Amino acid sequence: MKNNNLSQYPNTRMRRLRKTRAIRELVEETSLNVNDLIYPVFITDKNNSENIELMPDIKRLCMNDLMQTAEKLVSHGIHAIALFPVIDKKYKSSNGEEAYKSDGLIQKTIAKLKSEFPELLVITDVALDPYTTHGQDGIIDDNNYVTNDKTIQILKKQALSHAEAGADIVAPSDMMDGRIGAIRAELEKNNFHNTLILSYAAKYASCFYGPFRDAVNSSDSLATGNKYNYQMDPRNSDESLREVALDISEGADIVMIKPAMMYQDIILKIKSEFACPVFAFQVSGEYAMLKAAANAGYLCHKESVMESVLSIKRSGASGIFTYNAIEIAQWLKE
Ligand code: PBG
Repeated sequence: MKNNNLSQYPNTRMRRLRKTRAIRELVEETSLNVNDLIYPVFITDKNNSENIELMPDIKRLCMNDLMQTAEKLVSHGIHAIALFPVIDKKYKSSNGEEAYKSDGLIQKTIAKLKSEFPELLVITDVALDPYTTHGQDGIIDDNNYVTNDKTIQILKKQALSHAEAGADIVAPSDMMDGRIGAIRAELEKNNFHNTLILSYAAKYASCFYGPFRDAVNSSDSLATGNKYNYQMDPRNSDESLREVALDISEGADIVMIKPAMMYQDIILKIKSEFACPVFAFQVSGEYAMLKAAANAGYLCHKESVMESVLSIKRSGASGIFTYNAIEIAQWLKE
């Protein structure tokens, strides 16, 4: 922008464009829309849904409640649901074999959702943390190091099992090197030419995933472990360009930045550099933080949630994972 072309006050009065609601709406640069929303859900094989202590008003959904939720999403015009399984301890193992069982919780859920709500896009998480006894996203060696290449072999099977069950979009959130290429090749080989890959390309090692780990019961498994040697360092920005470039070249259709609110510089940078579809994940800790502020009376719930999600959109994200998706869809209709 050429600032020197701007005529000076009083020829230019910026407030003219803000005087009435009508003119403000005409010159708006960003608008939040139901098309932007993706609803993440936790699913359980229990007969009843359960509350999640660290995420007030969000539940681990049993199959019946999940189907009702899906119906609600469709009726609001929300196009996509993202599934996160809560796996019973008895199915966890050190190599997470349960992750790719054709009759596993997630695979059965995908099939049921697609048969009842064919238009609703189903996005699945590709990572081993819900399935491993140690809570890491991959397979560990004797030194507790998450091995890259062995893990990819399992992730390939996991992603294929999701595609076979009917998933529209598989979303690797594990941050192993080379997994996008391996998953893409596996999908092509098995004739899933149109299964989309949403790569969590720039996923930071963030404390804001805390409530999620409580929700999927992986925090106990992870104990004092951490994910610093595979998730990105919050101090880094240029590194996200290399992550995204690699994932696109390996066959990702969409890239994700995560978390969202504290990483909007990264969203803007990636969108400007690659001009590809960029999604962002307003994660569990962001949800919990806004919820707590609202419950304490510090912030207006509706206004703070709407402003936060609109800002994520303004940064360049065209799809936003948010645990507030249903409320937002309702508010957008008011
Ligand atoms: C697992 C995964 C995580 C989230 C999405 N997929 C947690 C983690 O990496 O530890 C976090 C989502 C949220 O906090 O809402 N690979």
